[in-house]
Amino acid sequence: MTNKRVFSGMQPTGEPHLGNLIGAFSNWVSMQDEYFSIYCVVDLHAMTVPNEPAQFVEARHNLAKMILAVGVDPGRSLLYYQSAVHHHAELSWILSTLAGLGHLERMTQFKEKSDKSGQNLGLLSYPVLQAADILIHKVHAVPVGDDQAQHLELTRDLAERFNHRFGEVFPIPERITPEIGARVMSLTDPTSKMSKTDAPKSRIDLIDTTDQIVKKIKSAVTDTGSVVAYDWEGQPGISNLLEIFSYFTGRPIADLAAEYETAGYGTFKVAVAEAVADGVGPIREAYLGMSDEEVAGVMSSSAERARSMADDTMADVRSATGLT
Ligand code: AMP
Ligand code: TRP
Repeated sequence: MTNKRVFSGMQPTGEPHLGNLIGAFSNWVSMQDEYFSIYCVVDLHAMTVPNEPAQFVEARHNLAKMILAVGVDPGRSLLYYQSAVHHHAELSWILSTLAGLGHLERMTQFKEKSDKSGQNLGLLSYPVLQAADILIHKVHAVPVGDDQAQHLELTRDLAERFNHRFGEVFPIPERITPEIGARVMSLTDPTSKMSKTDAPKSRIDLIDTTDQIVKKIKSAVTDTGSVVAYDWEGQPGISNLLEIFSYFTGRPIADLAAEYETAGYGTFKVAVAEAVADGVGPIREAYLGMSDEEVAGVMSSSAERARSMADDTMADVRSATGLT
């Protein structure tokens, strides 16, 4: 195993779904073979929008459990709650003194979220905390989808500014883009992304039962016509199902499209539903079979190791900046 490090994080907001699996978790799992992987349930980030505390406890815990259920292996990787390692917030403060207000105000996610939930300082400084998450462990790479490209650019910019002003402390992290399934679309509106915040029938949650999966896929919006073809312009609904089908079978989209071309939408959907149910079943079982104590144990021992790694970085930051 190399000593190259990756970091990624996810907010504990809503039920994890197929988009999270294909667009994020599958990469988190496969990166473990190549990198020392550090993953976080970014609870401090989730506080930028209102949360009910009792529900927040559950959401943090359930996301941690799901990340373990999909195959993040605590024997090789770290998984902890961001708030358990105070160094993230501390480094975020220092980086915030290097971040331009104009740059932060131009962030797409800030504009979108502040339209919806009103502005607060945390929403504006959100990407600075994200930069701190990444830089506190001096990671080399960050697996994230396109939606996070701007935040990673800011991270690189802050690392460069810091190094320029105070001397070389941080490596400049690269973004790793997932190869497949970068965007899983909604089952009820295949022109918008599958999302935690949309209606349950628009998405497959990773804890859905086989029955629920079959029902949702059978009622997925498809296109007028009857030929199964991979054509995002003309047939977005079918194309989305083909991508999902290909992910779970490991077969090329072209092969699947050829095999089901004239099978009819009904037969095609049953085949997709079976493949999804077979793929999601073991994840649901692993999730349901895991005890709360097991999850808590992993989270606390990982956090302890992360604190010790982050201590080393903060020692470098303190000595570079004169905070010694
Ligand atoms: P969110 O559910 O919005 O907190 O997203 C967490 C991460 O999951 C994102 O940064 C993406 O990498 C991934 N993700 C979320 N929704 C989708 C989707 N519909 N398709 C592909 N990836 C997704
Ligand atoms: N902002 C990311 C999202 O909404 C979550 C996140 C927080 C993250 N810190 C990170 C992702 C560090 C990668 C690296 O999806």
